[in-house]
Amino acid sequence: MSGTSTSTTVITNIATLVTNDPSLGDRSPLGLIQDAAVVIDGDRIAWTGETSKAPATDNRVDAGGRAVLPGFVDSHSHLVFAGDRTQEFNARMSGRAYSAGGIRTTVAATRAASDGELEANLTRYLDEALRQGTTTFETKSGYGLTVADESRALRIAAAHTDEVTYLGAHIVSPDYADDPAAYVSLVTGEMLNACAPHARWIDVFCEKGAFDGDQARAILTAGRAKGLHPRIHANQLSYGPGVQLAVELDAASADHCTHLTDADVDALASGATVATLLPGAEFSTRAQWPDARRLLDAGVTVALSTDCNPGSSFTSSVPFCIALAVRDMGMTPDEAVWAATAGGAAALRRDDVGRVAVGARADLILLDAPSHVHLAYRPGVPLVTGVWRRGTRIV
Ligand code: NIG
Ligand code: FE
Repeated sequence: MSGTSTSTTVITNIATLVTNDPSLGDRSPLGLIQDAAVVIDGDRIAWTGETSKAPATDNRVDAGGRAVLPGFVDSHSHLVFAGDRTQEFNARMSGRAYSAGGIRTTVAATRAASDGELEANLTRYLDEALRQGTTTFETKSGYGLTVADESRALRIAAAHTDEVTYLGAHIVSPDYADDPAAYVSLVTGEMLNACAPHARWIDVFCEKGAFDGDQARAILTAGRAKGLHPRIHANQLSYGPGVQLAVELDAASADHCTHLTDADVDALASGATVATLLPGAEFSTRAQWPDARRLLDAGVTVALSTDCNPGSSFTSSVPFCIALAVRDMGMTPDEAVWAATAGGAAALRRDDVGRVAVGARADLILLDAPSHVHLAYRPGVPLVTGVWRRGTRIV
Protein backbone atom coordinates (compact mmCIF):
# COMPACT_ATOMS: atom_id res chain seq x y z
CA MET A 1 0.00 0.00 0.00
CA SER A 2 1.89 3.02 -1.20
CA GLY A 3 1.84 5.37 -4.14
CA THR A 4 0.97 8.34 -2.00
CA SER A 5 3.42 10.65 -0.32
CA THR A 6 2.23 9.65 3.18
CA SER A 7 3.73 6.67 4.94
CA THR A 8 1.72 3.58 5.77
CA THR A 9 1.87 1.52 8.95
CA VAL A 10 0.28 -1.82 9.77
CA ILE A 11 -0.46 -2.84 13.35
CA THR A 12 -0.57 -6.64 13.37
CA ASN A 13 -1.25 -9.41 15.86
CA ILE A 14 -4.13 -7.59 17.59
CA ALA A 15 -5.97 -10.12 19.81
CA THR A 16 -9.19 -8.06 19.78
CA LEU A 17 -9.84 -5.08 17.53
CA VAL A 18 -12.83 -2.91 18.47
CA THR A 19 -14.05 -1.26 15.24
CA ASN A 20 -17.54 -0.04 16.28
CA ASP A 21 -18.60 -1.10 12.77
CA PRO A 22 -21.33 -3.73 13.18
CA SER A 23 -20.85 -4.92 9.61
CA LEU A 24 -17.39 -6.22 10.58
CA GLY A 25 -16.06 -9.16 12.63
CA ASP A 26 -18.56 -10.60 15.11
CA ARG A 27 -21.33 -8.25 13.83
CA SER A 28 -21.94 -6.96 17.37
CA PRO A 29 -22.21 -3.19 17.89
CA LEU A 30 -18.47 -3.22 18.66
CA GLY A 31 -17.69 -5.07 15.40
CA LEU A 32 -14.98 -7.14 17.12
CA ILE A 33 -12.31 -8.68 14.89
CA GLN A 34 -10.05 -11.34 16.43
CA ASP A 35 -6.40 -11.76 15.41
CA ALA A 36 -6.73 -8.51 13.53
CA ALA A 37 -4.62 -5.89 11.80
CA VAL A 38 -5.15 -2.19 11.04
CA VAL A 39 -3.44 -0.14 8.35
CA ILE A 40 -2.86 3.57 8.89
CA ASP A 41 -2.18 5.76 5.83
CA GLY A 42 -1.18 9.27 6.87
CA ASP A 43 -3.81 10.46 9.33
CA ARG A 44 -6.54 7.98 8.26
CA ILE A 45 -7.47 4.33 8.66
CA ALA A 46 -6.87 2.62 5.30
CA TRP A 47 -7.66 -1.04 6.00
CA THR A 48 -8.92 -3.40 8.74
CA GLY A 49 -9.11 -7.20 8.72
CA GLU A 50 -7.37 -10.36 9.80
CA THR A 51 -3.61 -10.24 10.32
CA SER A 52 -3.06 -13.03 7.78
CA LYS A 53 -4.60 -10.86 5.03
CA ALA A 54 -2.89 -7.57 5.87
CA PRO A 55 -1.31 -5.75 2.92
CA ALA A 56 2.35 -4.71 2.78
CA THR A 57 3.16 -1.30 4.28
CA ASP A 58 6.15 0.94 4.95
CA ASN A 59 6.16 0.28 8.72
CA ARG A 60 5.01 -2.55 10.94
CA VAL A 61 4.02 -2.59 14.64
CA ASP A 62 3.42 -5.89 16.42
CA ALA A 63 0.60 -5.53 18.97
CA GLY A 64 1.77 -8.75 20.63
CA GLY A 65 -1.69 -10.17 21.26
CA ARG A 66 -3.06 -7.01 22.86
CA ALA A 67 -6.32 -5.16 22.20
CA VAL A 68 -6.72 -2.11 19.96
CA LEU A 69 -9.71 0.20 20.07
CA PRO A 70 -10.72 3.64 18.79
CA GLY A 71 -9.37 6.56 20.81
CA PHE A 72 -11.82 7.76 23.44
CA VAL A 73 -14.09 10.66 22.49
CA ASP A 74 -14.54 12.78 25.62
CA SER A 75 -17.49 14.95 24.67
CA HIS A 76 -17.82 16.92 27.93
CA SER A 77 -15.20 18.79 29.95
CA HIS A 78 -14.57 22.20 31.53
CA LEU A 79 -10.84 22.76 31.28
CA VAL A 80 -10.35 26.48 30.86
CA PHE A 81 -10.04 27.31 34.53
CA ALA A 82 -7.60 28.33 37.25
CA GLY A 83 -7.44 27.57 40.94
CA ASP A 84 -8.28 24.64 43.08
CA ARG A 85 -11.28 23.35 45.04
CA THR A 86 -9.64 20.83 47.32
CA GLN A 87 -11.32 22.36 50.37
CA GLU A 88 -14.75 22.05 48.79
CA PHE A 89 -14.04 18.40 47.96
CA ASN A 90 -12.87 17.75 51.50
CA ALA A 91 -16.01 19.36 52.89
CA ARG A 92 -18.17 17.21 50.62
CA MET A 93 -16.41 14.06 51.71
CA SER A 94 -17.21 15.16 55.28
CA GLY A 95 -20.90 15.29 54.42
CA ARG A 96 -21.56 18.70 52.83
CA ALA A 97 -23.77 18.61 49.70
CA TYR A 98 -22.60 19.75 46.25
CA SER A 99 -24.30 22.84 44.85
CA ALA A 100 -23.93 24.96 41.72
CA GLY A 101 -22.60 27.78 43.92
CA GLY A 102 -19.08 26.31 44.09
CA ILE A 103 -18.61 27.38 40.47
CA ARG A 104 -18.13 30.96 41.77
CA THR A 105 -14.84 30.01 43.43
CA THR A 106 -13.43 28.93 40.08
CA VAL A 107 -14.88 31.99 38.33
CA ALA A 108 -12.93 34.30 40.66
CA ALA A 109 -9.67 32.37 40.15
CA THR A 110 -10.14 32.15 36.38
CA ARG A 111 -10.80 35.87 35.96
CA ALA A 112 -7.61 36.60 37.92
CA ALA A 113 -5.45 34.29 35.79
CA SER A 114 -3.37 35.34 32.78
CA ASP A 115 -3.95 33.87 29.33
CA GLY A 116 -0.68 31.97 29.71
CA GLU A 117 -1.75 30.41 33.00
CA LEU A 118 -5.07 29.29 31.56
CA GLU A 119 -3.37 27.86 28.49
CA ALA A 120 -0.76 26.00 30.54
CA ASN A 121 -3.46 24.51 32.75
CA LEU A 122 -5.56 23.45 29.77
CA THR A 123 -2.69 21.79 27.91
CA ARG A 124 -1.58 20.01 31.08
CA TYR A 125 -4.95 18.29 31.42
CA LEU A 126 -5.28 17.64 27.70
CA ASP A 127 -1.89 15.87 27.77
CA GLU A 128 -2.99 13.92 30.83
CA ALA A 129 -6.15 12.81 28.99
CA LEU A 130 -4.24 11.94 25.82
CA ARG A 131 -1.91 9.66 27.76
CA GLN A 132 -5.01 7.84 29.01
CA GLY A 133 -6.37 7.36 25.51
CA THR A 134 -8.56 10.40 24.81
CA THR A 135 -7.97 11.48 21.23
CA THR A 136 -11.00 13.75 20.70
CA PHE A 137 -11.79 16.35 23.28
CA GLU A 138 -14.60 18.84 23.84
CA THR A 139 -14.17 21.69 26.28
CA LYS A 140 -16.26 24.63 27.43
CA SER A 141 -16.05 28.18 28.67
CA GLY A 142 -18.14 28.97 31.74
CA TYR A 143 -15.68 30.15 34.40
CA GLY A 144 -15.37 33.71 33.05
CA LEU A 145 -18.95 35.00 32.82
CA THR A 146 -17.94 38.37 31.35
CA VAL A 147 -17.76 39.16 27.63
CA ALA A 148 -13.97 39.40 27.74
CA ASP A 149 -13.42 36.35 29.98
CA GLU A 150 -15.79 34.04 28.12
CA SER A 151 -14.42 34.97 24.70
CA ARG A 152 -10.79 34.53 25.81
CA ALA A 153 -11.65 31.12 27.30
CA LEU A 154 -13.07 30.05 23.94
CA ARG A 155 -10.11 31.43 22.00
CA ILE A 156 -7.75 29.46 24.24
CA ALA A 157 -9.90 26.33 24.01
CA ALA A 158 -10.16 26.55 20.21
CA ALA A 159 -6.38 26.65 19.89
CA HIS A 160 -6.07 23.26 21.58
CA THR A 161 -9.26 21.19 21.40
CA ASP A 162 -11.36 19.58 18.68
CA GLU A 163 -14.72 20.83 19.90
CA VAL A 164 -15.52 24.07 21.69
CA THR A 165 -18.67 25.00 23.60
CA TYR A 166 -19.87 28.42 24.75
CA LEU A 167 -21.19 28.09 28.32
CA GLY A 168 -21.69 31.73 29.35
CA ALA A 169 -24.83 30.33 31.02
CA HIS A 170 -22.98 28.19 33.58
CA ILE A 171 -24.38 30.21 36.51
CA VAL A 172 -25.66 33.78 36.76
CA SER A 173 -22.56 35.93 37.02
CA PRO A 174 -22.02 37.18 40.60
CA ASP A 175 -21.98 40.68 39.07
CA TYR A 176 -25.67 40.21 38.15
CA ALA A 177 -26.85 38.45 41.32
CA ASP A 178 -29.67 40.98 41.72
CA ASP A 179 -30.74 40.94 38.08
CA PRO A 180 -30.57 37.50 36.46
CA ALA A 181 -32.70 38.69 33.52
CA ALA A 182 -30.04 41.24 32.64
CA TYR A 183 -27.41 38.47 32.70
CA VAL A 184 -29.50 36.35 30.34
CA SER A 185 -29.69 39.39 28.02
CA LEU A 186 -25.91 39.67 28.11
CA VAL A 187 -25.43 35.94 27.45
CA THR A 188 -27.83 36.07 24.49
CA GLY A 189 -26.57 39.43 23.21
CA GLU A 190 -23.14 41.00 23.46
CA MET A 191 -21.46 37.93 24.99
CA LEU A 192 -22.92 35.61 22.35
CA ASN A 193 -21.75 37.92 19.57
CA ALA A 194 -18.21 37.89 20.97
CA CYS A 195 -18.18 34.14 21.58
CA ALA A 196 -19.98 32.62 18.59
CA PRO A 197 -17.00 32.91 16.21
CA HIS A 198 -14.89 30.71 18.51
CA ALA A 199 -17.36 27.90 19.24
CA ARG A 200 -19.44 25.21 17.54
CA TRP A 201 -21.79 24.54 20.45
CA ILE A 202 -23.85 26.43 23.03
CA ASP A 203 -24.59 24.91 26.43
CA VAL A 204 -26.58 25.94 29.50
CA PHE A 205 -26.65 24.58 33.06
CA CYS A 206 -30.40 24.03 33.45
CA GLU A 207 -30.71 23.48 37.21
CA LYS A 208 -31.95 25.01 40.45
CA GLY A 209 -29.42 27.69 41.38
CA ALA A 210 -28.41 28.12 37.72
CA PHE A 211 -30.95 28.63 34.85
CA ASP A 212 -34.59 27.53 34.63
CA GLY A 213 -36.29 26.02 31.59
CA ASP A 214 -37.49 29.32 30.12
CA GLN A 215 -34.08 30.93 30.49
CA ALA A 216 -32.41 27.86 29.02
CA ARG A 217 -34.76 27.88 26.02
CA ALA A 218 -34.08 31.61 25.40
CA ILE A 219 -30.31 31.08 25.63
CA LEU A 220 -30.14 28.04 23.36
CA THR A 221 -32.52 29.56 20.81
CA ALA A 222 -30.42 32.72 20.64
CA GLY A 223 -27.31 30.60 20.15
CA ARG A 224 -28.94 28.64 17.38
CA ALA A 225 -29.78 31.88 15.57
CA LYS A 226 -26.04 32.64 15.60
CA GLY A 227 -25.14 29.24 14.15
CA LEU A 228 -24.26 27.42 17.39
CA HIS A 229 -25.79 24.01 18.04
CA PRO A 230 -27.32 23.23 21.46
CA ARG A 231 -26.24 20.78 24.17
CA ILE A 232 -27.51 20.99 27.78
CA HIS A 233 -26.42 20.23 31.33
CA ALA A 234 -29.72 18.61 32.24
CA ASN A 235 -31.25 16.88 35.28
CA GLN A 236 -27.96 16.60 37.19
CA LEU A 237 -28.91 17.59 40.73
CA SER A 238 -32.71 17.37 40.52
CA TYR A 239 -35.64 16.60 38.24
CA GLY A 240 -36.36 19.41 35.81
CA PRO A 241 -37.18 20.52 32.27
CA GLY A 242 -33.66 20.20 30.79
CA VAL A 243 -33.88 16.79 29.16
CA GLN A 244 -37.19 17.40 27.41
CA LEU A 245 -36.00 20.83 26.30
CA ALA A 246 -32.88 19.20 24.86
CA VAL A 247 -34.98 16.82 22.76
CA GLU A 248 -37.39 19.60 21.73
CA LEU A 249 -34.47 21.71 20.45
CA ASP A 250 -32.70 18.71 18.90
CA ALA A 251 -29.70 19.25 21.15
CA ALA A 252 -26.84 16.94 20.24
CA SER A 253 -26.67 15.80 23.84
CA ALA A 254 -28.37 16.04 27.22
CA ASP A 255 -25.57 15.72 29.75
CA HIS A 256 -25.74 14.18 33.26
CA CYS A 257 -29.33 12.72 33.09
CA THR A 258 -29.15 11.63 36.71
CA HIS A 259 -32.75 12.42 37.73
CA LEU A 260 -35.10 11.23 35.00
CA THR A 261 -38.86 10.69 34.89
CA ASP A 262 -40.37 8.11 32.55
CA ALA A 263 -41.42 11.02 30.30
CA ASP A 264 -37.77 12.16 30.12
CA VAL A 265 -36.64 8.67 29.11
CA ASP A 266 -39.44 8.44 26.52
CA ALA A 267 -38.45 11.82 25.09
CA LEU A 268 -34.81 10.74 24.73
CA ALA A 269 -35.88 7.47 23.11
CA SER A 270 -38.00 9.30 20.55
CA GLY A 271 -35.46 11.96 19.56
CA ALA A 272 -31.92 12.22 18.23
CA THR A 273 -30.44 13.64 21.44
CA VAL A 274 -27.73 11.48 23.03
CA ALA A 275 -27.78 10.97 26.82
CA THR A 276 -24.24 11.69 28.02
CA LEU A 277 -23.56 10.17 31.42
CA LEU A 278 -20.77 11.59 33.59
CA PRO A 279 -20.09 9.16 36.44
CA GLY A 280 -17.05 11.11 37.64
CA ALA A 281 -19.50 13.77 38.84
CA GLU A 282 -21.60 11.32 40.85
CA PHE A 283 -18.43 9.76 42.25
CA SER A 284 -16.96 13.11 43.34
CA THR A 285 -20.19 14.56 44.69
CA ARG A 286 -21.32 11.31 46.36
CA ALA A 287 -24.55 11.45 44.42
CA GLN A 288 -26.84 8.71 43.12
CA TRP A 289 -25.69 7.07 39.90
CA PRO A 290 -27.46 7.73 36.60
CA ASP A 291 -29.38 4.63 35.52
CA ALA A 292 -27.71 3.72 32.25
CA ARG A 293 -29.53 0.38 32.07
CA ARG A 294 -32.93 2.10 32.03
CA LEU A 295 -31.81 4.37 29.17
CA LEU A 296 -30.25 1.58 27.12
CA ASP A 297 -33.26 -0.69 27.58
CA ALA A 298 -35.47 2.16 26.31
CA GLY A 299 -33.33 2.44 23.17
CA VAL A 300 -31.58 5.71 24.05
CA THR A 301 -28.09 6.34 22.64
CA VAL A 302 -25.74 6.71 25.62
CA ALA A 303 -22.33 8.40 25.75
CA LEU A 304 -19.85 8.34 28.63
CA SER A 305 -17.56 11.29 29.38
CA THR A 306 -15.43 12.65 32.19
CA ASP A 307 -16.96 16.11 32.83
CA CYS A 308 -13.40 16.95 33.89
CA ASN A 309 -13.58 20.16 35.96
CA PRO A 310 -12.11 21.34 39.27
CA GLY A 311 -15.44 21.24 41.13
CA SER A 312 -17.64 18.25 40.54
CA SER A 313 -15.43 15.75 38.68
CA PHE A 314 -11.68 16.28 38.66
CA THR A 315 -10.79 13.25 36.58
CA SER A 316 -9.51 13.16 33.03
CA SER A 317 -9.69 9.37 32.94
CA VAL A 318 -12.20 7.78 30.57
CA PRO A 319 -11.12 4.28 31.73
CA PHE A 320 -12.12 5.25 35.28
CA CYS A 321 -15.54 6.36 33.99
CA ILE A 322 -15.94 3.09 32.07
CA ALA A 323 -15.22 1.10 35.22
CA LEU A 324 -17.75 3.12 37.25
CA ALA A 325 -20.41 2.78 34.55
CA VAL A 326 -19.99 -0.99 34.48
CA ARG A 327 -19.85 -1.45 38.23
CA ASP A 328 -22.54 1.00 39.29
CA MET A 329 -24.70 2.07 36.35
CA GLY A 330 -25.75 -1.25 34.88
CA MET A 331 -23.71 -1.12 31.69
CA THR A 332 -21.94 -4.13 30.23
CA PRO A 333 -18.25 -3.65 29.42
CA ASP A 334 -19.11 -3.67 25.70
CA GLU A 335 -21.76 -0.98 26.16
CA ALA A 336 -19.45 1.21 28.22
CA VAL A 337 -16.60 0.99 25.71
CA TRP A 338 -19.02 1.80 22.87
CA ALA A 339 -20.41 4.77 24.86
CA ALA A 340 -16.92 6.19 25.47
CA THR A 341 -15.95 5.97 21.80
CA ALA A 342 -18.82 5.84 19.27
CA GLY A 343 -21.22 7.30 21.85
CA GLY A 344 -19.01 10.33 22.41
CA ALA A 345 -18.76 10.80 18.65
CA ALA A 346 -22.57 10.67 18.38
CA ALA A 347 -22.84 13.28 21.15
CA LEU A 348 -20.64 15.52 19.01
CA ARG A 349 -22.45 14.53 15.79
CA ARG A 350 -19.24 13.27 14.21
CA ASP A 351 -18.61 10.12 12.23
CA ASP A 352 -14.90 10.59 11.53
CA VAL A 353 -13.89 9.60 15.07
CA GLY A 354 -14.98 6.92 17.55
CA ARG A 355 -14.61 4.00 15.15
CA VAL A 356 -11.89 2.11 13.33
CA ALA A 357 -13.25 2.21 9.79
CA VAL A 358 -11.68 2.94 6.44
CA GLY A 359 -11.53 6.72 6.02
CA ALA A 360 -11.95 7.50 9.73
CA ARG A 361 -9.30 9.45 11.59
CA ALA A 362 -6.46 7.17 12.66
CA ASP A 363 -7.02 7.58 16.41
CA LEU A 364 -6.18 4.32 18.16
CA ILE A 365 -5.46 2.96 21.63
CA LEU A 366 -3.28 -0.08 22.31
CA LEU A 367 -4.14 -1.71 25.66
CA ASP A 368 -1.75 -3.81 27.70
CA ALA A 369 -4.49 -6.45 27.84
CA PRO A 370 -6.00 -8.91 25.38
CA SER A 371 -9.44 -7.29 25.30
CA HIS A 372 -11.34 -4.04 25.85
CA VAL A 373 -13.24 -5.75 28.71
CA HIS A 374 -10.14 -5.31 30.87
CA LEU A 375 -10.86 -1.55 31.06
CA ALA A 376 -13.62 -2.43 33.54
CA TYR A 377 -12.19 -5.75 34.75
CA ARG A 378 -8.92 -4.10 35.89
CA PRO A 379 -10.10 -0.77 37.34
CA GLY A 380 -7.49 1.83 38.18
CA VAL A 381 -4.73 0.04 36.27
CA PRO A 382 -2.99 2.16 33.60
CA LEU A 383 -3.64 -0.22 30.70
CA VAL A 384 -3.28 2.31 27.87
CA THR A 385 0.17 1.56 26.50
CA GLY A 386 -0.04 3.08 23.02
CA VAL A 387 -1.95 6.04 21.55
CA TRP A 388 -2.08 7.17 17.92
CA ARG A 389 -3.75 10.50 17.12
CA ARG A 390 -4.31 11.44 13.48
CA GLY A 391 -1.98 8.60 12.54
CA THR A 392 0.93 9.75 14.71
CA ARG A 393 2.01 7.63 17.65
CA ILE A 394 2.06 9.82 20.75
CA VAL A 395 2.34 7.26 23.56
O1 NIG B 1 -20.91 19.55 34.84
N1 NIG B 1 -22.97 21.16 36.35
C1 NIG B 1 -22.38 22.17 36.03
N2 NIG B 1 -21.10 22.24 35.73
C2 NIG B 1 -20.13 21.32 36.13
C3 NIG B 1 -19.64 21.59 37.49
C4 NIG B 1 -18.81 22.76 37.51
C5 NIG B 1 -18.21 23.07 38.83
O2 NIG B 1 -18.65 22.61 39.90
O3 NIG B 1 -17.24 23.84 38.75
C6 NIG B 1 -20.62 19.90 35.97
O4 NIG B 1 -20.69 19.11 36.92
FE1 FE C 1 -20.27 19.73 33.05
